[in-house]
Amino acid sequence: MSRLTESNEWKALQAKAPEAQKWNMREMFAKDAKRAEKFSAEACGIFLDYSKNLIDDDVMAKLRALLPFAKFDEMRKNFFSGVKINTTENRAVLHTALRYKGSDPIYVDGKDVMPEVRKVLEHMKEFTNLVRSGKWLGFTGKKIRYVVNIGIGGSDLGPVMVTEALRHYATPDSPEVYFVSNIDGTHMAETLKKVNIEETLFIVASKTFTTLETMTNANTAKAAVLKAFGGDVKSIAKHFVALSTNAEAVSEFGIDTANMFEFWNWVGGRYSLWSAIGLSIALRIGFDNYMQLHQGAYEMDEHFKTAPVEKNLPIILALIGIWYNDFMDAQSYAMLPYDQYMHRFAAYFQQADMESNGKTVDRDSKRVDYQTGPILWGEPGTNGQHAFYQLIHQGTKMIPCDFIAPANSLNAVGDHHRKLLSNFFAQPEALMNGKTLAEATEELRKAGKSEEEIKMLAPHKVFEGNKPTNSIFVDTIDPRTLGSLIAMYEHKIFTQGVIWNINSFDQWGVELGKQLAKKIIPELEKGEKDANVELSHDSSTNGLIRWYFKHHR
Ligand code: F6P
Repeated sequence: MSRLTESNEWKALQAKAPEAQKWNMREMFAKDAKRAEKFSAEACGIFLDYSKNLIDDDVMAKLRALLPFAKFDEMRKNFFSGVKINTTENRAVLHTALRYKGSDPIYVDGKDVMPEVRKVLEHMKEFTNLVRSGKWLGFTGKKIRYVVNIGIGGSDLGPVMVTEALRHYATPDSPEVYFVSNIDGTHMAETLKKVNIEETLFIVASKTFTTLETMTNANTAKAAVLKAFGGDVKSIAKHFVALSTNAEAVSEFGIDTANMFEFWNWVGGRYSLWSAIGLSIALRIGFDNYMQLHQGAYEMDEHFKTAPVEKNLPIILALIGIWYNDFMDAQSYAMLPYDQYMHRFAAYFQQADMESNGKTVDRDSKRVDYQTGPILWGEPGTNGQHAFYQLIHQGTKMIPCDFIAPANSLNAVGDHHRKLLSNFFAQPEALMNGKTLAEATEELRKAGKSEEEIKMLAPHKVFEGNKPTNSIFVDTIDPRTLGSLIAMYEHKIFTQGVIWNINSFDQWGVELGKQLAKKIIPELEKGEKDANVELSHDSSTNGLIRWYFKHHR
């Protein structure tokens, strides 16, 4: 048994869970008029109502007891102060330094990283202003109207999510921004159809500058640029910039390191939108708005560092997540933004959460004997309501949900927002209250159904209710609020990782597939010419590869 599952703190929660499984939230609300007030908190313009959960004061207190057991205060201090908490890669984890607005130094290996952070931000600001004002010209003297960000994972998902979420903040100076991530040639081919190369800036975004997908796409873009300008290599300097930690590989690719925006190995890929990886965001919404995003995140960092645990938004979300994931048998959780601009929010946090906390080995290199990261999924409301909510309401699985909405729409069209919000209020209410057999029977009777029909239909119309939700309300989706929201969830992930005693900042699990794919590429190359080439995989993989040889043209 691990230290965690052997602890009294863990056992106390295990003992509590069977009791909580029998609770009825409807009754809990009826008994306690102050429940919503008690289980809500507000900070950085974010109002969190977590009262519609299978919790009481005792559960919350027992969950909070996990924090000192996990030495949470010390870990959080180490995180913010540049201690190498990513032990398997021997790295500090300092995305918080990228958005830090204070004046204290932050040291990594005895060197204050803040001067370098500010220098790169200044470089990004200058470049953003040059491009947006039309002073940075393409090789044939044309203004940049299109930006194509070539990256994958953390070098793609953050900028995609934020540029979509803040699409409203684009101005006539803003270039249109496209993102190419998939190694499937279709992604690049279809994107090239949308742009005019003379007016396009390609951003090669890769922390390592070795990622197969990104380098393949970058080489295809380079070939397209060279072709457009009669093979003149001088065109590269006008149409390519790089965002990377690997200056050598950048210059080998042919990009002048003067056109490189640096970041550092203490920035994790999935936490990198605050670094140079955010350049496409700045180009799209302007540098000042990008800084507002940083500001919102910084404010959440300060809240996370200083607010008491009872009122600390990331900590509350983390503890509730652990309650369902480890004690109440939930396997997944859904993020449901009631805001069309946030349509990639769940996709972004799929990487942030699942790549961070999808681990089976703890910090002491032992296999865990408890559940770690949940499966995260979601789509914007109300679309999700007409797709998968059926299962959340009446399926056999418990799926805790985060409902997220702005009080104000950025597009006040008729009464759309009122109707949208009525759903944001109604769904958590319905999920909690459900509908009893007696209520369903009564409804059918009122609708004039016969007793026989009622007997058959009523059980299908029952909603068990008691389905847990958090409601997260903000004023408006603006850069600062979005920054706070992102940082809130980042710190939730951190807190859960600390309690689970796992390293949330490595990602060894993505390596094996990469290695095998690299081995298969030369086999495919040979086999496309000679289908009888020897293969040494299992019979399934061999069979699939041979089927490919047979059908490949
Ligand atoms: O998916 C694995 C991963 O290493 C992510 O962590 C990272 O965000 C992504 O690949 C892209 O890596 P890079 O920025 O080095 O190209």
